[in-house]
Amino acid sequence: MPDSSLISVTAKIAAYYRQFSDIPFAHEVAKRIGAGAAFDQILSEHGLSAEKLTFYAPMFEARYKSLTQLILQSGTSQVLELASGYSLRGLDLTRGGAIRYVETDLPNVVAAKLRLLDDVRDHHGIPPSPQHIVTTADALDFDQVRASAAGLDPSQPLTVLCEGLIMYLSKEQTEQLATNVRRLLRTFAGGCWITPDFTFKADARDLPPERSRLREAITGVTQRQMDASAFDDDDDLATFLARAGFNVQVRSQVDETPSFSSIPALGLSPTSIDRLRELLRVWVMTATP
Ligand SMILES: C[S@@+](CC[C@H](N)C(=O)[O-])C[C@H]1O[C@@H](n2cnc3c(N)ncnc32)[C@H](O)[C@@H]1O
Repeated sequence: MPDSSLISVTAKIAAYYRQFSDIPFAHEVAKRIGAGAAFDQILSEHGLSAEKLTFYAPMFEARYKSLTQLILQSGTSQVLELASGYSLRGLDLTRGGAIRYVETDLPNVVAAKLRLLDDVRDHHGIPPSPQHIVTTADALDFDQVRASAAGLDPSQPLTVLCEGLIMYLSKEQTEQLATNVRRLLRTFAGGCWITPDFTFKADARDLPPERSRLREAITGVTQRQMDASAFDDDDDLATFLARAGFNVQVRSQVDETPSFSSIPALGLSPTSIDRLRELLRVWVMTATP
């Protein structure tokens, strides 16, 4: 299996697309980490045009905002986000002081993220908070995941999050991730695992040429087949989750997104979101006893 750090450049793609939205700090983050240059390089190496790919922006906006909304609705007091990339949800949600937020990624991303956070905090006069921890953890290594959550309160429920990770994993790795999350949740007073990441084999069929070529480009950069973990259908996913020890609720990311700012910002059709309602889902899972 190629080095997991090859997946890390995809965090810049997510940051690139979020800049077209009103997600807190998203515009600034994209600028500070050079997301545009990283994205342009991938596109130019594969003869792709950014203008034909703008429809991805509301998808990244929905993914981010729906997760934030579900965290807030759950009333949870502690979050562990795995593979958080350059997303600043942790900074945003800890500004109010009611949530403890631990976020993790691989070492190269965490090092860059800590520098990014210092710069953003300085720029906005936001003091460092003991409620917000950024640390290294391989999501596939249980000891590292457990160690990252060591400062959280086991007598309280925990919300575990991953956004944009599973599509880069194999089936075996997805199973390992599910096992790790379940083991961890069982050491807390309940809680849940929230992810928008499960994909289905049908999602990759009949894609417009530009989308297929972007997938090929990402496969080239990450050296792994995107959606190797894709499920045959809903039943296949339900069987997987039941075997992994989870009860599951499915929501639409679109329904959980309070507003779409990237649609007017990019001049996209407001009806494009209706077509995404069924496609973009988010799974909220609790560990079975
Ligand atoms: C598409 S990015 C998503 C980042 C972020 N969640 C977001 O939405 O912007 C995928 C992230 O997964 C991280 N990653 C890949 N394999 C990982 C692993 N085994 N453990 C932890 N993080 C991993 C990469 O470094 C990268 O930051």
